[in-house]
Amino acid sequence: HRPIRVALLGCGTVGTEVIRLLTQQADDLAARVGAPIELTGVAVRRPNKHPDVPAHLLTTDAAALVASDVDVVVEVIGGLDPVRGLLLDALTAGKSVVTANKALLAESAADLFAAADASGADLFFEAAVAGAIPLLRPLRESLAGDRITKVMGIVNGTTNFILSAMDETGAGYAETLDEASRLGYAEADPTADVEGYDAASKAAILASLSFHTRVTATDVYREGITSVTPTDIAAARGLNRTIKLLAICERVTGEDGAESVAVRVHPAMIPRSHPLATVGGAFNAVFVEADAAGQLMFYGQGAGGAPTASAVLGDLVAVARNLVGGGHGPRESAYAALPVRTIDQA
Ligand code: NDP
Ligand code: HSE
Repeated sequence: HRPIRVALLGCGTVGTEVIRLLTQQADDLAARVGAPIELTGVAVRRPNKHPDVPAHLLTTDAAALVASDVDVVVEVIGGLDPVRGLLLDALTAGKSVVTANKALLAESAADLFAAADASGADLFFEAAVAGAIPLLRPLRESLAGDRITKVMGIVNGTTNFILSAMDETGAGYAETLDEASRLGYAEADPTADVEGYDAASKAAILASLSFHTRVTATDVYREGITSVTPTDIAAARGLNRTIKLLAICERVTGEDGAESVAVRVHPAMIPRSHPLATVGGAFNAVFVEADAAGQLMFYGQGAGGAPTASAVLGDLVAVARNLVGGGHGPRESAYAALPVRTIDQA
């Protein structure tokens, strides 16, 4: 089979690791896919900041790279603009997309899926929620025959890193946030992490996949951790509890018997004996409850360059295998419209 041609948009914490894995594992990936994966270009803002990337691959013109002769666009820039337009262009042109961009998915999934379905392209985004943890594919595929009732857990590594440090060592909030940024866990604007926007985006994606409906970030009740004080953490400790930022997605039944979906993100005091209490650092953990499967638990590194790149590469292999074998990923038509019950924002 001819090489699968890949454009990479962004080469920061995640993109750097994507290139490393693509390069180091080139032969193994070619064997797994049945064709070589060829990186044809890397779009960045500041080319002179990327001495390790072959100069002929670098460009500041992401739109031209997307429009060039490529099969797959891997997006690890982040944010809504200009990425939304770039990915819609790619999908409309029949180019499959792999993205780690939860903010965009939580806002524009309907448009992106519509473009993908119309052209027959694939849209994969395993890295957008819970870093390295295989979570979206189980929800989207393995559990597609079951009826999920609840998804709950820790889905933001930065805030878990901060809360864990405050609890374990009494470290200060600001210094721990700085360290989370230095380690590549935090978003470019860490307000997204500490105010709960990132977790809310992830919760919207989880709820959409779990309940086969469309939940956007604005449907999610959201509280971050900026008002959690050392005194709160000490008080929780005195009660043999700890504070974690939780995302909770539930199928709820109203008094009229009608089902809807409710999604919320907020700090919660949990008993130290609870499995979520032991989740430290930038790790994530997510519990899923389904009628037939019962309880499932997913755990692993939720942030950082290499763990996130692992999920990106898994999606890239899936897309490349589809291109080689003629298959395709799940389609938008799988969605029915279960209504979303919004909770008034405090
Ligand atoms: P970084 O800020 O480290 O990297 C962003 C990259 O995008 C940089 O290389 C930057 O170029 C490039 N870029 C920015 N704007 C443009 C533009 N207009 N055109 C071309 N290139 C541009 O981000 P991360 O790698 O941390 O995150 C990337 C994505 O992955 C985000 O959506 C994030 O939410 C998601 N994600 C991140 C995780 C993490 O742990 N970091 C985990 C899971 C998902 P330059 O380097 O030249 O400035
Ligand atoms: N900023 C995010 C986090 C990156 O801390 O969880 C992973 O999505």
